[in-house]
Amino acid sequence: MKALKLTCILIFFISCTGHSLDNNRSYQIPVSPKESIPFNTRLKIPDLLENKGKGKNNAVFELTVKKGTTEFFNKVPVITYGYNGSILGPTIRVRRGQTVTINVKNRLNEYTTVHWHGMLLPAEMDGGPHQPIAPGKNWKPVFKVNQPAATLWYHPHGLGTTAIQVYKGLAGMIILDDTNSDKLNLPKKYGIDDIPLIIQDKRFTSDGVPLYLTYMRDIMEGMKGDTVLVNGIINPYLDIKNTKYRFRLLNGSNARIYNFRLSSGKPFYIIATDCGLLEKPVKMKNLVMSPGERAEIIIDFSSYSKGDTLYLKSYDFRIIQFRINKMKNTGTSVPSALADISFLKKSDSIKNRIFQLEGVGHHVSINRKQMNINRIDEYMKINKTETWIVSSSTRGMMGMMGRMHGGGNMFHNFHAHGVHFQIIGRNGRPPLPLEKGWKDTILLEENEEVKILTKFLYKGIFMYHCHILEHEDNGMMGQFRVD
Ligand code: C2O
Ligand code: CU
Ligand code: CU
Repeated sequence: MKALKLTCILIFFISCTGHSLDNNRSYQIPVSPKESIPFNTRLKIPDLLENKGKGKNNAVFELTVKKGTTEFFNKVPVITYGYNGSILGPTIRVRRGQTVTINVKNRLNEYTTVHWHGMLLPAEMDGGPHQPIAPGKNWKPVFKVNQPAATLWYHPHGLGTTAIQVYKGLAGMIILDDTNSDKLNLPKKYGIDDIPLIIQDKRFTSDGVPLYLTYMRDIMEGMKGDTVLVNGIINPYLDIKNTKYRFRLLNGSNARIYNFRLSSGKPFYIIATDCGLLEKPVKMKNLVMSPGERAEIIIDFSSYSKGDTLYLKSYDFRIIQFRINKMKNTGTSVPSALADISFLKKSDSIKNRIFQLEGVGHHVSINRKQMNINRIDEYMKINKTETWIVSSSTRGMMGMMGRMHGGGNMFHNFHAHGVHFQIIGRNGRPPLPLEKGWKDTILLEENEEVKILTKFLYKGIFMYHCHILEHEDNGMMGQFRVD
């Protein structure tokens, strides 16, 4: 009895302090960064992948998935996976209207897939668990880009092997342009004032070798490391002019949530979320991102002087150092109107569909089921709009166990393939300005309920899942078929 009472107090305490994700509420994520590594490695910008296509309506790319070695620190070479290189992958830049062909070669000694996260396309091109590429074999998806300018990404999606393959290095960014993004006076010079930031975390031994799933809480909550890397680099710096920069943030981590802010405490502008530009910029001092989510932000460095340094932080943890070393205004702006968003109508919704996310560790489930590739969980109709009610429950025994092992912060998120969605409510309140753009991944705090509208544009079998990759691999995934 006494023990039970104590547990209750513990849970109460943790849930009071540990898991709120709103602005200005503090978080309790234990992060023990490698404070000993100085910020003296220049940020690496992934190469733009060469487009070998002929004519502006065709894009043709080559991607080879392979093994290589990376020195994270202490000059210890470690085996990693990458696309066309030893870790991560080049940035793929495409335009709305283009027909894209990607020649994927799997040169690993194991199966992989390449999933285009956030891309609307026919199911056979999706690169999910139904499109495995055997070792030594190739895969050639062809699809037409028909969606607004956005920051998307690509990563492996094999059944049960996603988490480890991403952790070993497989992830890359996709930049999608359209005529609207062309004409906005935003920073848009890739690698100059438009900077991709792929943010991931790892745990290392003291001699620089990555560790995976070494603690009980890794199993329960997913793998969270104590060292954050940006584009594969620990503690990088970036030389900056005192002008506006666009950063394309991708939370490519297996399981970690970030709450980004500037060390100066100044606000920045959020201009885009997962699937494209917002209607107008949202000025914020922080930004919470769960695994799989993207955002584009503009930081205005014009009030800083030469020699100033500041950091992008998550909680109290420094992620990247900005060194202001040139006084030059490049004349870009933060336009007050960014994009026209055609909102789906609740009145067009033909069905309410429930997705209930539950559990921790190996007991994760959606609607009390675990992934079975031979079972279709939901059937949808093409061109129809539906309301999805997605909720996360950590009530009951499994929630309690999760909290005891994990020290709070039990959350899930929800991602679906082949569709984009619009948030129409969170716990009964209307969406925040930040939540009003097209999304493909949403964070769910404990016992939250998010209502979304979505419409099915492509036929075939698609996945929905928690994007905490260990949860996904443990079966927190289902399949829907659009006919
Ligand atoms: Cu980014 Cu189904 O995944
Ligand atoms: Cu996806
Ligand atoms: Cu989950």
